[in-house]
Amino acid sequence: MKKVLTYGTFDLLHRGHIQLLKRARDLGDHLTVGLSSDEFNVLKNKKSYYSFEHRKVILEAVRYVDIVIPEMNWDQKINDVLQNNIDIFVMGDDWEGHFDFLQEYCEVIYLPRTVGVSSTKIKNELFSVNND
Ligand code: CTP
Repeated sequence: MKKVLTYGTFDLLHRGHIQLLKRARDLGDHLTVGLSSDEFNVLKNKKSYYSFEHRKVILEAVRYVDIVIPEMNWDQKINDVLQNNIDIFVMGDDWEGHFDFLQEYCEVIYLPRTVGVSSTKIKNELFSVNND
């Protein structure tokens, strides 16, 4: 069985996330998603609308996702790859090159982002609609 791993915040789940998850899952037979904890989001200067628990419930309902694990810090990736017997690590190409150090442990693939959508864009647009 080929196992795939990806990470992210996945707030306000949108079609860019779904397309990323589908393409990641299609690379293998099992997809693990490392979901950023609320504390880790603070370290990344991100503030999600939904809490970790809410984002986890939503992600677990996506047909392409097999298991969700918490992402607590920048340094857990090698351990996650080894512990979960990961064959392929996948991220959107906004992270191109950042995780090449994992090539020692598994294949590393950066997928093109879906153009025109992001959680930040949704938040900004909802904010401006509500303030019109
Ligand atoms: N992603 C994608 N296409 C998009 C948005 C996100 O492929 N349009 C991918 C990212 O590259 C990443 C994963 O989805 O691999 C999770 O991204 P995340 O940062 O949670 O989503 P964003 O919408 O980019 O969030 P933000 O606006 O807060 O940065």
